[in-house]
Amino acid sequence: MPISRLAALAAVLLAGTAYAADLTPTGKWSGYTAGNAATPPMGWSSWNTFATNISEERILGVAEALKKTGLAAKGYRYVNMDDGWWDKRRQPDGRMQIRTDQFPSAAVGGSVGTSFKPFTDKVHALGLKVGIYSDLGRNSCSQAYPAPDGYLPKGTMAEREIGLYGHTDQDIKLYMQEWGFDYIKVDACGIRAYFPEAPQVKSGEYRTLDPLIIGWQINGTDAGAVKKLYTDVSDALIKYKPNNDFLFSICVWGAADVRTWAKDVGNISRTSDDLGPIWTRMLHNFDSASRRALYAHPGSWNDPDMLYVGYGEFDENHLTEAKSHFALWAITNAPLILGNDVRKMPKPLLDIVSNQDIIAINQDKDGNQATLAYDADNVQIFVKSLAGGKKAVAIFNRGIAPAEVDLTAQQMKLAEDGDITLTDLWTKQQTKIKKETKFQVAPRQTLIFTAEGPHRLKNGLYLSEMPGRVNPAVDGVTTRQPDPYIFRFQTWGSTRGNGAHPQYAGWGGAQTDFTPFGQSLRIGGKDFDTGLGVLANSRLEVRNNGATTFTAEVGVDDSTLDTSRPVTFAVYGDGKLLAKSAPKAYGEKPETLTASVKGVKIVELVASNATAPNAQPTVVTWGNAALTR
Ligand code: GLA
Repeated sequence: MPISRLAALAAVLLAGTAYAADLTPTGKWSGYTAGNAATPPMGWSSWNTFATNISEERILGVAEALKKTGLAAKGYRYVNMDDGWWDKRRQPDGRMQIRTDQFPSAAVGGSVGTSFKPFTDKVHALGLKVGIYSDLGRNSCSQAYPAPDGYLPKGTMAEREIGLYGHTDQDIKLYMQEWGFDYIKVDACGIRAYFPEAPQVKSGEYRTLDPLIIGWQINGTDAGAVKKLYTDVSDALIKYKPNNDFLFSICVWGAADVRTWAKDVGNISRTSDDLGPIWTRMLHNFDSASRRALYAHPGSWNDPDMLYVGYGEFDENHLTEAKSHFALWAITNAPLILGNDVRKMPKPLLDIVSNQDIIAINQDKDGNQATLAYDADNVQIFVKSLAGGKKAVAIFNRGIAPAEVDLTAQQMKLAEDGDITLTDLWTKQQTKIKKETKFQVAPRQTLIFTAEGPHRLKNGLYLSEMPGRVNPAVDGVTTRQPDPYIFRFQTWGSTRGNGAHPQYAGWGGAQTDFTPFGQSLRIGGKDFDTGLGVLANSRLEVRNNGATTFTAEVGVDDSTLDTSRPVTFAVYGDGKLLAKSAPKAYGEKPETLTASVKGVKIVELVASNATAPNAQPTVVTWGNAALTR
């Protein structure tokens, strides 16, 4: 073992934590890179329009409409079949059978009985890709929460066990290799809903499966076991799709501490419950993804759920809301998966989701999720760094009153004395500004621009401008806490009980330009409007972009709850120690760390406490952290 790794190990062993191995620099990027998700997936899913009442005719009809409307050419290429396709799991060989009443081409007969190959061939012949759906447990969401007019699998109890549990290898091989699907969404009701007292279990309809997810009880959930099951699916996908042309969609709705591990296990991961065609639900889902920029990177994206453009408060009578929904999903690098009936899509809605400039923001190859530049009352400003140096900016009025909003060069991390050109991506109108400008933003409106101008930081980027290159391999969170910032929607349309309460683990995770608990960055009385905020006993992996120098001003953040434990900051290049601070105590002035990273591929930033832990987290700041050349 190299001396530096030994030293790092010794330092953390001394600290007496269980995180020794994790803080050891690896010189590697540990975020997920398997599968086909260099940019967020785009396409359509059957769920929001058809629920379980899907058919070959309906899905192929939508596939054809994607071509006819020009949406396919704009990038909407995945045609995803959601819940409702199963007939039964054949006994005793366990081979899944398809509903041939709705998928007649699947009735191939012979030893296999049914096959989706004719169906996937038809979708592929249109030049599109095609997705399938399953569950991590033995049973599905529709079986746990049946819709009155919905369809359910048939047969004996064993035949109705259509989920992956105990069949992962067999099913993934069948779906992805033999049937030729390109995309799989794996839901998790099977490991949540079938507890012994559940009505569908007590009635004898389904077997119980010890729930790995206990409702939304963060500490009652076996996050490690859930991660393991999803990792098994990923392993099977890698095995049966050796060409890497698969997309793995994790659907555990923000539960099971998925924020910390989905970025290492799958290509997209749901951050919340299902979206509905309701403005406040959209806010909720958006909030669940919008503060996790550091937990997404090319290959793995936050998924606030499929688009609801076309329905309810996002239909053709609500174009402001529909445009906001679309623009916010785009700038957050969310998957752009339509859910409406594309066969009959009103022109104004088609125009919204066809906006090439906004799609380009979402599909930008640098893969930086927008970060929060301003947040108060009803106004939020998000900024996303694009390949080539431009910025994308969204100004979002969440409220029902008009808002006057100042947008500044500083918020965009552009030079205050430079000429900035703003291009409105809806109207294409260009405006030249210097330093700052003002906008009137209508209720529920989102203005979206690209901004071009000289950067505030010459010759490089702040790390908070490139969250797609930063992976919080260990974010220091040891006690799962619900995130109070996530807006809570009215649960499933009922106001019985005492309402929805914070329930998504993630509070305390690494942040750009804020502390892990949402405060401004400040070390020893010095404010930083840019930097990375994280907890001590963390290790951040940074993909270098050809820069030659890393710099940061480091120290314990003034907002820390634990004021007693000094923290040491170390910078590694491809596993070798490059720079190290003195132990920094609470209240001490920041120390500047500089490291030459010429030729280095992976820079690692390790912040560790050298004394025994206490119950309070130590908040640390990598102020002005930047890579320059
Ligand atoms: C869950 C998922 C939805 C959808 C349904 C299908 O609720 O979150 O996206 O797949 O199951 O039953």
